Amino acid sequence: MKRLFTAVLGIATVGVLAACGSGPAPGGDSGSRTAGGTITMGFSQVGAESGWRTANTTSIQDAAKAAGINLKFSDANGVQENQISAIRSFVQQRVDVIAFSPVVRTGWDAVLLEAKNAGIPVILTDRAVDTQEKDVYKTFLGADFVQEGKWAGEWVVKQYAATPGPVNIVQLEGTTGSDPALERSSGFADAIAANPGLKVIASQTGDFTRSGGKQVMEAFLKANPKIDVVFAQNDDMALGAIEAIQAAGLKPGQDIKIVAIDATHDGMQALADGKLNFIVECNPLLGPELMDLAKKVVAGESVPPRVVTPDQTFDQQQAAVALPDRKY
Ligand code: AHR
Repeated sequence: MKRLFTAVLGIATVGVLAACGSGPAPGGDSGSRTAGGTITMGFSQVGAESGWRTANTTSIQDAAKAAGINLKFSDANGVQENQISAIRSFVQQRVDVIAFSPVVRTGWDAVLLEAKNAGIPVILTDRAVDTQEKDVYKTFLGADFVQEGKWAGEWVVKQYAATPGPVNIVQLEGTTGSDPALERSSGFADAIAANPGLKVIASQTGDFTRSGGKQVMEAFLKANPKIDVVFAQNDDMALGAIEAIQAAGLKPGQDIKIVAIDATHDGMQALADGKLNFIVECNPLLGPELMDLAKKVVAGESVPPRVVTPDQTFDQQQAAVALPDRKY
């Protein structure tokens, strides 16, 4: 029932956006629609589940403004059906370009074909899709999630190189079926395979939210008397886990080590404060590059099929140094 309500809400949101839209008049292919006029982009966002996502949304909205692109923004509230409805509405409105960050990896073929058949180019941002269809999107802009998981795992391997096992690890996964959850899990598993003493004793989704991370960590702590390491697939879940660990009378960062991904301001603050041990960055500031790519695809210029955004890693000292200049 809740899913149905949010789906209806999503359609309504797009409807309102459509009514308010002031994009160019419908035309033939994407090139002719924009000749001399403003580019209109339809963007379907995952939701507002994390600090990362909020920073990503702001980056896209600000960059659209700066680039003079008319942005029709739709928030899917974490529901794939809402994204599909939003994309269909963008096709009906004949926007010049559609961009979206897919909630999950599968289930996009039909709507991507609809956009392709309407001659509207699509750009994937942040997350990838699995599709058998050809040429249904122009490019995919985002981080290398497998590498992020690997860096997190390699830190654990290094940390426990001299420790006789077993080292008990619990994993807080992102949204089930999402690209970052799948790829970070696989990168992390590959990296920790280097030391057979490192064991993932429990792994469950916290849906990339702080409350999800807290709830799952509380259950992990009740069920497992010895937890050495938490691998949280984003900062928000790590921050939730910190609350659960403290409520259990333990010291996060000391009694239980925590490795996370994102490097948002709140995550970096917890790292500098010693409550977290290591963070792999995932840069959410994709807006300017997305707008550049959009202008190119609308102009019919060729773009690389994959644009990988660079990331780095932070330990506690590096976080303290980086914090004052952190942009998100
Ligand atoms: O897709 C990127 C991931 O989605 C971020 O790591 C997470 O915080 C967000 O919700």
